[in-house]
Amino acid sequence: MAAFGKAMAGGLLLGLSLALLARGAEGQANGRGKKEVSGGSTVHLGQERDVWRPLIHTTVNLSQINSIKSSFQLRTFDPEGVVFYGDTKNGEDWFVLSLTDGIPMMQISKEGMLISVTGGPKLNDGEWHTLEVSNHGKFVILEVDGSGGLVVGMQTKQMEEGISGQLRLALGGILIDKEQLIVQFEPQMDGCVREGSWLNLSVPWEAEAEELWPCHPNIQPGSYFPGTGFAVFNTSVFKLGEDHGVKIELWGDFSQMDGTILSIKAPGQELMFALVANNNTKEVTLSFWQEKISVKSTFKRLLVTFQKDVLKVLQDEDESTTSVLSSNPESHNSYLTTWKEGRLAFGGLLGDDGAGSQFLTGCLKKIQVQSRDLDLDSADKHVSVSSHSCPA
Ligand SMILES: *[C@@H]1O[C@H](CO)[C@@H](O)[C@H](O)[C@H]1NC(C)=O
Ligand SMILES: *[C@@H]1O[C@H](CO)[C@@H](O)[C@H](O)[C@H]1NC(C)=O
Ligand SMILES: *[C@@H]1O[C@H](CO)[C@@H](O)[C@H](O)[C@H]1NC(C)=O
Ligand SMILES: *[C@@H]1O[C@H](CO)[C@@H](O)[C@H](O)[C@H]1NC(C)=O
Repeated sequence: MAAFGKAMAGGLLLGLSLALLARGAEGQANGRGKKEVSGGSTVHLGQERDVWRPLIHTTVNLSQINSIKSSFQLRTFDPEGVVFYGDTKNGEDWFVLSLTDGIPMMQISKEGMLISVTGGPKLNDGEWHTLEVSNHGKFVILEVDGSGGLVVGMQTKQMEEGISGQLRLALGGILIDKEQLIVQFEPQMDGCVREGSWLNLSVPWEAEAEELWPCHPNIQPGSYFPGTGFAVFNTSVFKLGEDHGVKIELWGDFSQMDGTILSIKAPGQELMFALVANNNTKEVTLSFWQEKISVKSTFKRLLVTFQKDVLKVLQDEDESTTSVLSSNPESHNSYLTTWKEGRLAFGGLLGDDGAGSQFLTGCLKKIQVQSRDLDLDSADKHVSVSSHSCPA
């Protein structure tokens, strides 16, 4: 799709005027004790909050807007999540920009008409990309890195109303009920936005948090555990293989990890499995029920296979490193029972009350369960864990 000319005349500011700008509007968001930040701030969208809630937002009077263009830079390895939101008429007309499968998706509601459009390049490559959203009459245009983006045309039968009321802008969340979206998606976005220029507005934005998290200067793909929390799944979400087996594969530099990498336990039962890295001894210890072995943490990839009551561990796809642990035949514990009711945690040791301990410090470059990539965004996850990026 061709980049669009910037032709614009007066009266182009529709109800859905996203790319609007006010000059010198001041003291918008205030008196509510919220922290104010500049719209050009670097914003870590993965920061802790209710998942649909924007991290920062602002409100301006439409009459103050004199630009039709918003631009910002986005960097992420996350394939899915909400980036930017705008609305008018108190949320009656709205615009949502998100990623799905790494590709930009715009959803627009205008005078009762709902539109969704997806396209453009994959953006979740960990590089900074410049996105520009502008409103040209009947068209909303998204440009990526200065060229070819998405163009959406909309025409309604209704007459355009005058330019009045307010425009709200938000980053990292939406201000409408998610049920109103045409296409549902997982909102959490492990990504960073910087150098935002919003309709050339200089109004301050209101932050939901006391302090905005910094963005790491350099990132690499992976799930990062800073040692303060973990990510928990119900084991029942993972289907057993035809052989009733379960395969979990982990990639990373295990010699740079410290703490519990993986644990599996059912409530009220003893711990079935734990994989723990020790940064002092440079060893990784595996325990399966009462059995325990330690291996040097020189490998970069570990395959753990549960089959009946046997656990097999393979390092770096090297058959000669295979270790096999069996459950005690005296024991009434069964891996299948645990799997039915249990929980599986990355980055911490599961306790009986669902709490964790011995949290991991380190980066898991990739996680697969049953040969499929695992997205920690779908886990019950501590906010400190970033699902899609590790500091480089
Ligand atoms: C925006 O409009 C409201 C009422 O329409 C007015 O009270 C307010 O002062 C305006 N804000 C600015 C910054 O002009
Ligand atoms: C943006 O605002 C500045 C002053 O606030 C002004 O000088 C500039 O012309 C504006 N740009 C556009 C595109 O309106
Ligand atoms: C591992 O140990 C080294 C040396 O003591 C230290 O610099 C590093 O921060 C430790 N890493 C972790 C993840 O604990
Ligand atoms: C796990 O299952 C329990 C109830 O069985 C449910 O309340 C909880 O939300 C589930 N957790 C996840 C992460 O799916």
